[in-house]
Amino acid sequence: VYSLDGYLQMIADRPRIEAYEEAIRRSVFPGATVADIGAGSGIMAMLACRHGAGHVWAIEPADVVELAREVVRANGMESRITFITKKSTEVELPHKADVMVSDLRGILPLHGDHIPSIVDARSRLLNAGGTQIPGKDVLHVAIARADELHPSSIVRRAREVSGVDLSPVLDVLTRNWTKAKRESLCLTSAPVQIAELDYGHVTSPDISASVELEIENEGRSHGLVVWFDTELVEGVAFSNAPDKPDLIYCRAFFPWPSPTELRSGDRVSLTIDARLVEGEYLWRWKTTIVGGTGSHVSFDQSNLGGSPLHASRLRRHASSYVASPWAGKEIEIEILRRIDGRRSNHDIAIEVADQCGGYEEAFRQVSTLVDLLEGRKT
Ligand SMILES: C[S@@+](CC[C@H](N)C(=O)[O-])C[C@H]1O[C@@H](n2cnc3c(N)ncnc32)[C@H](O)[C@@H]1O
Repeated sequence: VYSLDGYLQMIADRPRIEAYEEAIRRSVFPGATVADIGAGSGIMAMLACRHGAGHVWAIEPADVVELAREVVRANGMESRITFITKKSTEVELPHKADVMVSDLRGILPLHGDHIPSIVDARSRLLNAGGTQIPGKDVLHVAIARADELHPSSIVRRAREVSGVDLSPVLDVLTRNWTKAKRESLCLTSAPVQIAELDYGHVTSPDISASVELEIENEGRSHGLVVWFDTELVEGVAFSNAPDKPDLIYCRAFFPWPSPTELRSGDRVSLTIDARLVEGEYLWRWKTTIVGGTGSHVSFDQSNLGGSPLHASRLRRHASSYVASPWAGKEIEIEILRRIDGRRSNHDIAIEVADQCGGYEEAFRQVSTLVDLLEGRKT
């Protein structure tokens, strides 16, 4: 879920918007039909109209669409942009689009259902031979010094302020990767490529790469930094490399368990896996450092267990767990029974009013439950 402020910051990211506008300008021919997947504020749809689109399907399930409609109206484009308030995977278009534009990435392109959504939209919503923006993203990794970002520094600073020993959180913290700005990173190796996501052909949302790097900048290193460069269409690109100014995406910093002293010429072998599991990426990053003297250090980390999970919640997933009867929730069961694709909220509220102590309370419960259930579909 993006905040309104987040949508505006995405629009204010000049290199990103200028590159997208140039890619749209080169791809949208007069009268073209465009599918804007994840329209958000409607910015890409409006840029497509500016460059001659005949019609844009602006597909966006989030509530921001209501503001986007107003923005489109304020720019006089309402007759050429149709908003569809669904996920692209649930949308049927009357005819396929000539151009499909999207930015469903987070800090990295491996973000939620980005890739499955693109794979689906490419085959169902785009004309054969139509243009996809972006065309491809290329992921890179390097070793980095990132003293301020490393969990050990965060725990130390928190301890200095509070006087409390926070070391028990260190293990969980080092399973999490974080957003890294340019000023917090100094590369200690040259980068290498770990994946190319060619959106015209990609089918799997997962990546797996094994690479070798050499330390060039001796001293402490704190982990890996991963970023992507994009080619929106041929000849229109931007880069999130750590030596470039920060774009909205920044980079991902994967910490090692502790800061590690390295010498020039040390070899670092990395295996990086990212697997999409129920809409979230499970990352594993394995590091082996071989020093000049033959010394060996290995780390095997994963974001599994990267947030505290209460034991009682974990138990609920056990095959032996016996759930207690749904006491106090009978009314919800009554409401659920009546949701049949014909009755309105009002109809249901009238039917369960007696059990709820009156129509108003019944209506509140019906609309809350319906909103919850419908929300799950998007
Ligand atoms: C990073 S924002 C981009 C907003 C806008 N297109 C831009 O570039 O500034 C991604 C948007 O895509 C939406 N989204 C994610 N997956 C989607 C899907 N499969 N279909 C439609 N919208 C999706 C999110 O709700 C979010 O509003």
